[in-house]
Amino acid sequence: MILEILKFPDPFLKTKAVPVEKVDDGIKKIIDDMTETMYKAKGIGLASVQVGVDKRVIVLDVPGDGDGERVQGRNLIALVNPEIVSSEGQTIYEEGCLSVPGITADVERFSRLKVRALDREGRPFEVSAEGLFAIALQHEIDHIDGVLFIDRLSRLKREMIKRKIKKALEAEEKAL
Ligand code: NI
Repeated sequence: MILEILKFPDPFLKTKAVPVEKVDDGIKKIIDDMTETMYKAKGIGLASVQVGVDKRVIVLDVPGDGDGERVQGRNLIALVNPEIVSSEGQTIYEEGCLSVPGITADVERFSRLKVRALDREGRPFEVSAEGLFAIALQHEIDHIDGVLFIDRLSRLKREMIKRKIKKALEAEEKAL
């Protein structure tokens, strides 16, 4: 089922999601719906909070460097209760977000990290990430803590972007 992706400034995007206690059929359904929604929106990652769910679940399908043509599902990964267990280095990447359409900005992140989580069957696993995968993981984990990439910018930059979004929304309302 395709879910609605909440857009800034929807207040739900500030929700700090709670840990999943048991990966049951309800959680599996959320994972599957989120995956479908991510592909429909042509995103490389999606977090539960973006679709109005307050449980800690994220899905990603980040193209690898040597992958060539993008094949849907090749790098698909679902993480329940993801936790960063170690991180190192710094990298800056121009990020965008399905919840903040039309806006991109440089964000500083860790360049490498290890994340622990439960998979779709509730089994614990650990994954090492670098490159775009590492950036996307941090972006999605931020979402389940109620943090958007624009919250990681300087106050000046953030206010500029918020004004730009507000203007666009107002123009949309006036449009016939
Ligand atoms: Ni996002």
